[in-house]
Amino acid sequence: MGISIFWVVKQRHRESEFIVLNQYFGIGMMCLVVVYREVLCCFCLNLTVAIDTIRSSQSINDTEYIISNGSAFKLGFFSPANSTNRYLGIWYNNISVFTVIWVANRQKPLKDSSGILTISKEGNLVVLNGQAEIFWSSNVSNSVTNSSATLGDFGNLVLQVDTTGLVLWESFQHPSDSFLPKMKLSTNLRTDQRAQLTSWKSPSDPSIGSFSLGIDALNIPEVFVWKEGHPYWRSGPWNGQVFLGIPNWNPVYRTRFTVVDDKQGAVFETFTESDVLHLPHFVLGSQGNVVRTYWDDGKKDWEVVHLIPEDECDVYGTCNAFGNCDSLSSPICSCLRGFEPKIIKEWNRGNWTGGCVRRTPLQCERMNNSIEEGKADGFLKLEKIKVPDFAECLNVNKEDCQKQCLEKCSCVAYGYYTGIGCLSWSGNLIDLRQFSVGGSDIYIRLANLEFEKERNLKVIITITVTIGAIAIASTAFFFWRWMAKKKRAMKSKSNESLLFDYLNDVKLQELPIFNLEELATATNNFDLANKLGQGGYGPVYKGKLQNGQEIAVKRLSRASGQGLEEFMNEVALISKLQHRNLVRLLGCCVEEEEKILIYEYMPNKSLDAIVFAVICLLNMQCGGYFQINQMSLVLACYY
Ligand SMILES: *[C@@H]1O[C@H](CO)[C@@H](O)[C@H](O)[C@H]1NC(C)=O
Ligand SMILES: *[C@@H]1O[C@H](CO)[C@@H](O)[C@H](O)[C@H]1NC(C)=O
Ligand SMILES: *[C@@H]1O[C@H](CO)[C@@H](O)[C@H](O)[C@H]1NC(C)=O
Repeated sequence: MGISIFWVVKQRHRESEFIVLNQYFGIGMMCLVVVYREVLCCFCLNLTVAIDTIRSSQSINDTEYIISNGSAFKLGFFSPANSTNRYLGIWYNNISVFTVIWVANRQKPLKDSSGILTISKEGNLVVLNGQAEIFWSSNVSNSVTNSSATLGDFGNLVLQVDTTGLVLWESFQHPSDSFLPKMKLSTNLRTDQRAQLTSWKSPSDPSIGSFSLGIDALNIPEVFVWKEGHPYWRSGPWNGQVFLGIPNWNPVYRTRFTVVDDKQGAVFETFTESDVLHLPHFVLGSQGNVVRTYWDDGKKDWEVVHLIPEDECDVYGTCNAFGNCDSLSSPICSCLRGFEPKIIKEWNRGNWTGGCVRRTPLQCERMNNSIEEGKADGFLKLEKIKVPDFAECLNVNKEDCQKQCLEKCSCVAYGYYTGIGCLSWSGNLIDLRQFSVGGSDIYIRLANLEFEKERNLKVIITITVTIGAIAIASTAFFFWRWMAKKKRAMKSKSNESLLFDYLNDVKLQELPIFNLEELATATNNFDLANKLGQGGYGPVYKGKLQNGQEIAVKRLSRASGQGLEEFMNEVALISKLQHRNLVRLLGCCVEEEEKILIYEYMPNKSLDAIVFAVICLLNMQCGGYFQINQMSLVLACYY
C-alpha cells in the first residue's frame, strides 16, 4: 500500500524524488515516511517536494516547495502575517519562527492560491497565476533552451544553463530586505548594476518600501541607507578595514565587512563562515532601521541587535550645513566654530533645516571681492568626528594635504586618514557628528580673524585666571598662617582642653574625663590578667575605680589607625546613644598617645546578651546592638 503511494509520488517528480530520498531520509526513514504519508498529509507535502532544484518543464504549485540541499532554506508560496496575498519567497526551514529572507513577486501579489513557479520556454524563472499571466520573472534577456534553478544552502536561488553551468540569474543579486552570509551588496559603475536591499512597505506588505541599503562607490566606498532615494544614513568612508563613521559598533560586526573596490564598482560583503550556525543576517526594516539578528536556539527566537539609527545624530544631515550633531548635548545641534545659524530664530527653536553659515569670509573669498587682503586662512582641528559626506580623494601625502586644501578656495576642510589618504571637502559640510569615543580628526578652514578672536578671548581668560590665582594664593597663604598660629596655640593647651574643644564641637556635655593614672591604677597597669578580650580597635580591660565601681576600659590601639578626630566622633556617637537600660559610657581619656573609653562593666555576659536583645526588641528605636566581649554596648538606637 505504502509503495503504491510512493509510486504516485515518484511518477509526479520523476528522478528528483530519488535524489531527495537518498540524500535526506535514507532507506529506513523512507519506509517510515511512506507509511506516515497515508495518515498525515503534511508529510506527503514535505516529501513530495523535498528537492532543491526545479528544471525546465517542472513547476511548483502553491502547496509545494523546494528545500535546499542541507535543508537550511525553503522556497515556496506564503502569505505574510495579516495578509491573504500570496507571494513566492525563501525562508528559513529549520526554525520555529517563520522568517522570510527573499520575496519574488513583491510588487505583484497573487490574490489566490493558483500561483505556480516554473521555468519558461526562454529559460526564465517565472511566477504565473492560474491564467498563466506572468506575475514575476527573473527577466534574463537571452533566451536559453534548458535551464534549472537550484536553492542553495545559503539561501541563494540560482538559475543556470544546464549544459554550461553558466549562471543566468541569482536571488542574492536581487535581494529583498535581508542581507545574508555570502551575499554581496554591489554597485557596478560601468554597467550601473546594483545589488541593494530594499525594505518592505510594512511587516505585512513585502512590496518595495521607502528605504534601500547599498554601497555608494562614487568616491570612497561607503554604505548608505536611502529614504525615497535620499540619504538617510551613511557609514562613513571605508578605510580598508572599517567604516570611519561607525566607531561605536561592536567590533564583532564592525570588522566582518569586506569592501572590494574593483574599479568597476564596490562590493560589500560580510560574515565569516563560522557565524552561519546562528543564521545571522541584517534586516532593513520598513522604518529604515537596520538590525542584526541571529537565532538563539535556547530561547527559540531571534536575538535582535539594533544598529541603525543609533540616535538622532545618526540620521543623515540632522544638523545640516556646517552643523555638528552631538547626541550627548542639548540641543543636539550646534554650529561649527566660526559659523552661525543661518536663521537664528528657527535654529533656536530647534529647527535645524537652515543649517549654519560662515561668520567671517575666508581670505580667498575676500581677495576675489578685492576688498582687502589680510592674513592667510587657518585650520581648526576637530576631534572624534564622523567626517562629513562628499569627501574627495586628493592623491597627495600627509604633508601636502593641508597645502592642497589651502590652494583651492573651494576647499573648506581636509583630513588625512590611514588606509585612505588625503580627503578634502568643498561646499557645505553635511552629516558631521561628534563622538565621545572613536571618530576621526578633521581640519576646518577658517578666516584668520576667527583665530584672532580666539586669541583675544584667550588673553582675557588668561588674565582672569592669573588674577584669580593670585587672589587664591594670597588667601591660602593667610589662611595657612592663621592655621599655623592656631595649631601652635592648640598644642600649648593640654590634651584635655583639646578634648573639651572637640566635645563642645559635638555638643557633648558632662562626659567625665578620666586621667590615665587613674585608669592605670584601676586596671593594675593594664595587666593582662584583667584583659577581657580584644575588640576591633584594641584590647578591653576590666578595672575597678577607687569608689568600687567596676568598669570596662577600651584602650584603642595605635595600630587601629584611629585619629583623634575619629575617636572623638566615636565618643560623640556612643555618648549620644546613652540609655539608662544599656551599658553606659562613663567617660573617656585622651592623654599622651592614649585614647581610652571607659564603660560600665556588666559582669554577667550571657545575661547581658539576653537583656540587650530583649531591650532592643522592645524598644522601637533600637535598630540593633552588638557586644564587645563582656561589656555589651548597644550602638544602633535612635533617640
Ligand atoms: C523585466 O524587464 C522589463 C523590461 O526590461 C521591466 O519592465 C520589468 O519591470 C522587469 N520585471 C522585473 C520583475 O524585474
Ligand atoms: C532539454 O531537456 C529535455 C528534457 O528535459 C531534453 O529532452 C532536451 O534534449 C534538452 N535540450 C537541450 C538542448 O539540451
Ligand atoms: C524650519 O525652518 C525653515 C527655514 O529654515 C522653514 O522653511 C520651515 O518651515 C521651518 N519648519 C518648521 C517646522 O518650523
